[in-house]
Amino acid sequence: MSDTEAVRPLTVAEYCERVYAQAQGDPDRIPWHHGHTDDVLLNWLNRDAPRLVRPGCRAVVVGCGLGDDVAELDARGFDVLGFDVSGTAVHWAGLRHPRCAQRFIRADLLDPPARMTGRFDLVIEVSTLQSLPPEIRSIGAANIARLTATRGIVLSVDCGRLNEEPGDNAEGPPWPLSASELESLLTTAGLGCLCRPQALPVPGEPDHVRVMGVFVKG
Ligand SMILES: C[S@@+](CC[C@H](N)C(=O)[O-])C[C@H]1O[C@@H](n2cnc3c(N)ncnc32)[C@H](O)[C@@H]1O
Repeated sequence: MSDTEAVRPLTVAEYCERVYAQAQGDPDRIPWHHGHTDDVLLNWLNRDAPRLVRPGCRAVVVGCGLGDDVAELDARGFDVLGFDVSGTAVHWAGLRHPRCAQRFIRADLLDPPARMTGRFDLVIEVSTLQSLPPEIRSIGAANIARLTATRGIVLSVDCGRLNEEPGDNAEGPPWPLSASELESLLTTAGLGCLCRPQALPVPGEPDHVRVMGVFVKG
């Protein structure tokens, strides 16, 4: 390559794959990995899921990373599938959770396999929409809606910013979302709002919030 040729920035998929590959099997080197089921997801599963989703129903975790959320849903009896765009993450998730290794596949939320359309009664998205650049986030949101069965539930939890904070053009990932952005993304994708997105404090991190919303299809 000549000195004048521009270096193409990595896509998010390439960036994530590189982070997982360079970690060489050490989960402490994955900056977004916390080593356990996501706390917001866990609370929701304990408190709200029992009145919204049938035990044993089909669930999918998009952008499942190292698979802890999938393992939690599997342990609770859901018929769960986890997918991630990173082949290294998917392989690693299987090694980390051998009891449910067959539940992990490589797939791209920006172009999910047609066989997944309308298949899931519960779609879990934790920290994946925040990983998509704002200009392509709506494709991810549309595909989340596409994966969801009629009357299926979508739980979305992402790195947030307060509604009144200026729109971010900061370099991501992540690209934090406000509650109103999350609501607009998923309602524009055709989902109804069951629990309007709200900003939640992050314990021990006073400068950060997460946004969480619950949506329904049809
Ligand atoms: C911030 S990490 C969160 C991982 C996991 N959900 C967690 O909470 O630990 C974002 C994940 O989304 C995955 N990802 C990014 N873009 C994706 C896409 N287009 N399709 C599927 N997964 C994607 C990344 O590889 C990464 O594992």
